[in-house]
Amino acid sequence: MTAFLLTPPATQDVHIWRWNLDVSDAEIDGYWQTLSEQERERAGKFRFDLHRRRFVAGRGELRRLLGAYLGLAPHAVSLDYGTEGKPFCTSQPAHWTLCFNLSHSDNTAALAVSNGIEVGIDVEIVRPVEESMPVEVFSTRERAQFATLPEAQRQAVFFETWARKEACLKALGTGFILPPDHFEFDLAVRGDTTPCCVGGDAHEAAHWRIQTLQNGMQDRPDSAGAVAARHADWSLVFMNS
Ligand SMILES: CC(C)(COP(=O)(O)OP(=O)(O)OC[C@H]1O[C@@H](n2cnc3c(N)ncnc32)[C@H](O)[C@@H]1OP(=O)(O)O)[C@@H](O)C(=O)NCCC(=O)NCCS
Repeated sequence: MTAFLLTPPATQDVHIWRWNLDVSDAEIDGYWQTLSEQERERAGKFRFDLHRRRFVAGRGELRRLLGAYLGLAPHAVSLDYGTEGKPFCTSQPAHWTLCFNLSHSDNTAALAVSNGIEVGIDVEIVRPVEESMPVEVFSTRERAQFATLPEAQRQAVFFETWARKEACLKALGTGFILPPDHFEFDLAVRGDTTPCCVGGDAHEAAHWRIQTLQNGMQDRPDSAGAVAARHADWSLVFMNS
């Protein structure tokens, strides 16, 4: 794999990288060489080869890109984990703060990289909305609003909102230790937005920004995606799509 160097994101930018996880045997072998012992152990626990390969291609490309920002070989990138599993980089550059978050769904991965802004990213394949899903994901107020939407809009709105919520919970690093209705949205607002309430607090909500990833996943028009941060005034910069 060719070594290359990347310029750090500007302080108000969030770089977005997307890639296909279904790669050749040779690429999987190359990525495997760059993984840590812990990652190889985790890869070994997947029941299906397809899922193992996708994990290796996800972590391998994550390491390659982080290494390029840090001027390090991919295997030299050192990762640690928050209490709920959010990975962060312990090999930090001298003059900026590398933050990142990864998401994958089916055969695609998406990575957000920023300079000091704690980010969360989520991509989702748009699929049929089962009856139980709005109950599991939405607050009472969101459910009432969802019920008033025309049938034709419901699927897109459901997955757009789902991606917003998961991106926020991943920015916090809690994931679903907090319930999905911790972040509440106005479902009438499509695209970039701010939550209405965070844990019932409208003042806290005002600190958050959520940017929509149109076609959340590269080459998958049937996908939704969002990037979230508790930070004002930042923009997405698409690096390879
Ligand atoms: C974070 C969470 C929502 C991700 O769900 P998912 O369906 O795998 O979704 P995504 O594909 O978008 O994200 C996966 C990636 O998010 C990152 N991630 C893992 N835990 C995370 C967290 N708590 N916060 C933010 N990002 C996290 C990882 O990079 C992971 O991919 P990788 O392990 O292949 O590197 C889910 O795992 C969760 O709720 N975790 C917290 C609760 C928990 O399980 N805690 C105990 C773990 S120690």
